[in-house]
Amino acid sequence: MPRIRADIAAIRPYQVGRQLADVARAHGLDPGEIVKLTANEGPEGPFPGVVEAVTRVITRSNRYPDNDCWDLGHDLADELGVDFSNLMFGAGSVALLDEIGTAMGGQGTNFVYGWPSFIMYRFVALWAGAESREIPLEDDFSLDLKAMSAAIDEGTTMVIICNPNNPTGTIKPADEIEAFIESVPEDVLVVVDEAYHEFVTDPSYRTEIPFALERPNVVVLRTFSKIYALAGHRVGYAVARSDLLTELRKAQAPLTVNQVAQTAARATIGQPQELERRRGLNEARRHHLVGALAERGLPMAESHTNFIYFELGDRADAIIETMTTRGVLIRGMGGGWVRVTIGDEGENRQFLEALDGALG
Ligand SMILES: Cc1ncc(COP(=O)(O)O)c(C=O)c1O
Repeated sequence: MPRIRADIAAIRPYQVGRQLADVARAHGLDPGEIVKLTANEGPEGPFPGVVEAVTRVITRSNRYPDNDCWDLGHDLADELGVDFSNLMFGAGSVALLDEIGTAMGGQGTNFVYGWPSFIMYRFVALWAGAESREIPLEDDFSLDLKAMSAAIDEGTTMVIICNPNNPTGTIKPADEIEAFIESVPEDVLVVVDEAYHEFVTDPSYRTEIPFALERPNVVVLRTFSKIYALAGHRVGYAVARSDLLTELRKAQAPLTVNQVAQTAARATIGQPQELERRRGLNEARRHHLVGALAERGLPMAESHTNFIYFELGDRADAIIETMTTRGVLIRGMGGGWVRVTIGDEGENRQFLEALDGALG
């Protein structure tokens, strides 16, 4: 066996979730019937116009993509009210996190983030050779910014704020986030992961993009994988001051966002009515599911996103397994807590039926 880096060899590989075909085979189900509520994907297909745009560009597959994401970047910059130079694209925001982690990690460094939060932060720290400082959430499942602040020391090079937080769906008010960032030394990078930004309607919340443009050490991450329903294409972006992005880009492989993905993302933007329609649908469906879980007496965190974090207790693993045999997949998060992605009406009905069947 080649001498793999010891800290990489020690990793237990990330389980992206059981393959639908696997689950179908194991339980004699048709893969098309399985209700997958494990990955916070959008329940509907891409935005209008995406399929046509992608079909047109596929004929140019012999050419490399535009390394600068020029067309997508200019349209997105207009939509966000930022300059093209304030944007950096990646093959999903996970890839950007990895690249940013590479730029910020190394021996003797540490990354500070809340816990539970997005599982990939742990991997990003490991890959980067940085120590993980996982700071428990507050009792209401939101980030404990005070404790995160206290965890920062001379070794800290990166702090990640997941707002809204995955898997809990909770938010922190923008004023508190900004006060926290102001307390972080300027040589520490603050990454604000806003993967679920578009779902939030609470007035205390706002994006940190304008704040990031004022400060030398703040990057906001966004993705086309969630409300924009392009998870299969892998497009995410970072927004920050251009001098900071110039440095971070040094850790990124070239040509990382493929041409079909750039085209799909470009065709998605500039459709505020469709965005609003999907936000509204998600909110109504969330309201319905939150009510249904409350009726069943199940404790949960206050979600502002397209998923709900709730408690099933000691029987959580058995309940998840029983639901799986009925073709409904939700994700166990440990400690008796689970996360369900909000699906469409049919999927949500099947989820509740399977849950009731498993609860007994
Ligand atoms: C908080 C958070 N950040 C980033 C991502 C990754 O998104 P992408 O598909 O852009 O890599 C996810 C996906 O689940 C997420 O939950």
